[in-house]
Amino acid sequence: MTAPRLVPTEPFAGQRPGTSGLRKKVAVFRQPHYLENFVQSIYDVLEGYAGQTLVVGGDGRFFNREAIQVILRMAAANGFGRVLVGCRGILSTPAASAVIRKHRAFGGIILSASHNPGGPDEDFGIKYNIGAGGPAPEKVTDAIFARSQTISQYRIIDAADIDLDRPGRQSLGGMTVEVIDPVADYAELMQRLFDFPAIRGLFASGFRMCFDAMHAVTGPYAHTILEGLLGAPAGTVINGIPLPDFGGGHPDPNLVHAHDLVAALAAPDGPDFGAASDGDGDRNMILGRNFYVTPSDSLAVLTANAGLAPGYAGGLAGVARSMPTSQAADRVAAALGLACYETPTGWKFFGNLMDAGLVTLCGEESFGTGSDHVREKDGLWAVLLWLNILASRRQSVEDILRQHWRTYGRNYYSRHDYEGVDSAAADALMDHLRQNLASLPSKCLGGFTVDLADDFSYTDPVDGSVSAGQGIRIIFSDGSRIVYRLSGTGTVGATLRVYIERFEPDPARHDEDTQRILAPLIDLAEEIAGIRRRTGRDHPTVIT
Ligand code: G1P
Ligand code: ZN
Repeated sequence: MTAPRLVPTEPFAGQRPGTSGLRKKVAVFRQPHYLENFVQSIYDVLEGYAGQTLVVGGDGRFFNREAIQVILRMAAANGFGRVLVGCRGILSTPAASAVIRKHRAFGGIILSASHNPGGPDEDFGIKYNIGAGGPAPEKVTDAIFARSQTISQYRIIDAADIDLDRPGRQSLGGMTVEVIDPVADYAELMQRLFDFPAIRGLFASGFRMCFDAMHAVTGPYAHTILEGLLGAPAGTVINGIPLPDFGGGHPDPNLVHAHDLVAALAAPDGPDFGAASDGDGDRNMILGRNFYVTPSDSLAVLTANAGLAPGYAGGLAGVARSMPTSQAADRVAAALGLACYETPTGWKFFGNLMDAGLVTLCGEESFGTGSDHVREKDGLWAVLLWLNILASRRQSVEDILRQHWRTYGRNYYSRHDYEGVDSAAADALMDHLRQNLASLPSKCLGGFTVDLADDFSYTDPVDGSVSAGQGIRIIFSDGSRIVYRLSGTGTVGATLRVYIERFEPDPARHDEDTQRILAPLIDLAEEIAGIRRRTGRDHPTVIT
């Protein structure tokens, strides 16, 4: 057996992982010892893993394979008993969560920078997930950071590379490496949740779908599940081969970046249903023929119809949405007598609720939807639940949405992002809002009466922890809302996000243009915050 070697090293500044891990340019990760320092910091803060199983895989982006070889050699040197690694280095984020849970692994290391572009000059990322399958909680990521700032050596063995293209067992030092099919465990889980025969019947009836994998990780999953197990015609999956640079694209499923898909669905004889997922497979976008489903509406429709899928036929424990996500799901929850939780932005807040059995479904306006089957958001899962609903109801996506709005009312919704704003100006804008909150309630502004104005604070019902300062909410008496918050994931300057929502119960007004119907509230958002004056911006950078 190869003896572990101790390599002297020095800390690197700024190796602070967020909840989505450590994300940096590839060039940063390629500095000597940089990746090794961070990996050793993870292993150093974990306790009791000797002889245990670790899961490793990534979204296939540039540097994925090299990083995996280092992680494996260091896992062997640090005493793990076994590593399950996805064949070709591939594991989507939700699939990694499923594999960790199924094989009762100690934890997992996922290599991804989600929807950020990949390539030698682009982003790479690494994160640690715990045995429950979800991202490490803050106390663990804080400890990893603290360790990375004092580290003086790391452990590694000298050994030849593992053949990541050869499924089966190989030995590395005293450790077993098992190269696994990245899709099998995930596909098995999906077959337990959804009515595959019914969906197969839908495809057999001539129903057509287009799934855009954006040259990212979901290609192999979609090929196996949609075209293989469900019998969708070949060609249903587009951009299905994972590429290290995602084909030069930006693997973010929205109307701008998933242009191939949007074009396909707009064609005169286009498919009935369209969907896309992001770099690491946790986000999703849902389209009908010439029809866009907002992520907020998608969560509401899935909540209302989940019972049509075998995995959810027993009913839902509850539903959760992030605060800026529209209140459409709340209306469904109220009608069905379900508990509904409003959490701060970020997936980690859902994990506690799911572990405690308080919610089954959860979602964010930023194209993230999921359930308690894993502890990550799950793009393909959302697509399969939609397919199950379509197979059962045999209506178009548009008809399902129109009927939904007739039943529950329509929450018109849009997010306006101001990217790369001067940080001091953005902070001043938020401070100004905070200082004026108390004067707003019961004021009538532009025809809207303010019911409540606050800086959102969340008390976790499971552990009692309080997260304050999560965004400014201005809620009007008719159910409309304006929300302001600063992004926690932007890289250049500050990103101001303004979320605008208007509730419309009248079916005669369910066919309006979203930006037009929201215009009075958009004007009001400007009037209240002084965005133009404070940021020097006339328009949002991105409107979704
Ligand atoms: C964004 C999204 C948020 C999501 C996060 C990680 O964060 O808005 O819903 O959880 O990315 O994918 P933000 O930049 O708004 O802080
Ligand atoms: Zn992602």
